[in-house]
Amino acid sequence: MEREHAPLEGVTTLWYRRAHRKWFGGVTRYYTPFISPTKEHVFTKRELREIAPAANAGVPLVPQLLARNAEDFLWAASALADMGYGEVNLNLGCPSGTVCAKGKGAGFLAAPEELDRFLETVFSRCPVAVSIKTRLGTEDPAEFGRLLEIYDQYPVRRLIIHPRVRKDQYRGRPRLAAFRDAAGRSRAPVCYNGDLCTAADAVAFRARFPGVGAVMLGRGLVGDPALARKLAGGPPASRAELEGFTAELYEAYSSGYGSRHSAVPRMKELWSFLICLFRDGGKHAKAIRKAKSPAEYEDRAAAVFRELELAADLRPDWTDMDWKGWSE
Ligand SMILES: Cc1cc2nc3c(=O)[nH]c(=O)nc-3n(C[C@H](O)[C@H](O)[C@H](O)COP(=O)(O)O)c2cc1C
Repeated sequence: MEREHAPLEGVTTLWYRRAHRKWFGGVTRYYTPFISPTKEHVFTKRELREIAPAANAGVPLVPQLLARNAEDFLWAASALADMGYGEVNLNLGCPSGTVCAKGKGAGFLAAPEELDRFLETVFSRCPVAVSIKTRLGTEDPAEFGRLLEIYDQYPVRRLIIHPRVRKDQYRGRPRLAAFRDAAGRSRAPVCYNGDLCTAADAVAFRARFPGVGAVMLGRGLVGDPALARKLAGGPPASRAELEGFTAELYEAYSSGYGSRHSAVPRMKELWSFLICLFRDGGKHAKAIRKAKSPAEYEDRAAAVFRELELAADLRPDWTDMDWKGWSE
């Protein structure tokens, strides 16, 4: 089964992906957080840094684009093709208010006929393969019937389905009955995404959906960076690896952003997920979140490794899923 690393804006940066690949691996493919091409048809300095082929050498990477205008999408896809990328991913899943208000991300799903015209233009001229990351709709999973009819007209490289609708945001359980239906009908190979947090979740998923050849892991993989490696038969994360990984990433952020001060917010965000690997980490998580200086952050991160017990498969508190208990 393929194991993809989901994009998380603010977390799965260039430096994160590089360090993750080096320390843990097990991931078939990484995606960049979304890049939103503008009418001016220039990448920002930050976007260029994120996608520079030399900086991503050795990391199998698919750049993700968020667009509603086919010409803007095609401009970006061509520029990425010139850099050597063979695939771009279209974001039709982002539920955020500002994105959807512009009719992008999951907001585009509210206009299926316009989406069809967009895809017709994109697929007739795009110089690289296009995969799609989608939700089931905006309000009601029944919207997916028409959306899938549209996707099925085009040679979509991979259809990544996060089986929630836009109004679900990330709440509640993924809508698995709708996913089963969609996966059975899609012409494109399907990749499942949503709430797979532990190796046991993924094993239960595989047993339930043996025909689905790929899973995309997001928060669960950031929270347990060895999750993909474990699914590939490898060992869990050791304390030394986690220490090495976080220390290296902190250094990379410090030099990438020019100061330790700028590195701290990135590390705090990472720790908000990573803390779930440690037993009874609540107080330590709060202390890291409240660190006011690089020195405070460094002390508090060191305290986690010094004081807390590593737990192999703790379920993070952002999910109430119990995959093993689910019947067909
Ligand atoms: C902080 C955060 C940032 C995200 N940024 C992106 C993004 O840039 N592009 C995207 O397609 N999805 C983004 N997502 C959604 C994730 O890729 C993924 O679809 C979602 O977290 C569900 O998968 P999971 O349950 O495995 O985490 C983001 C999610 C979070 C929590």
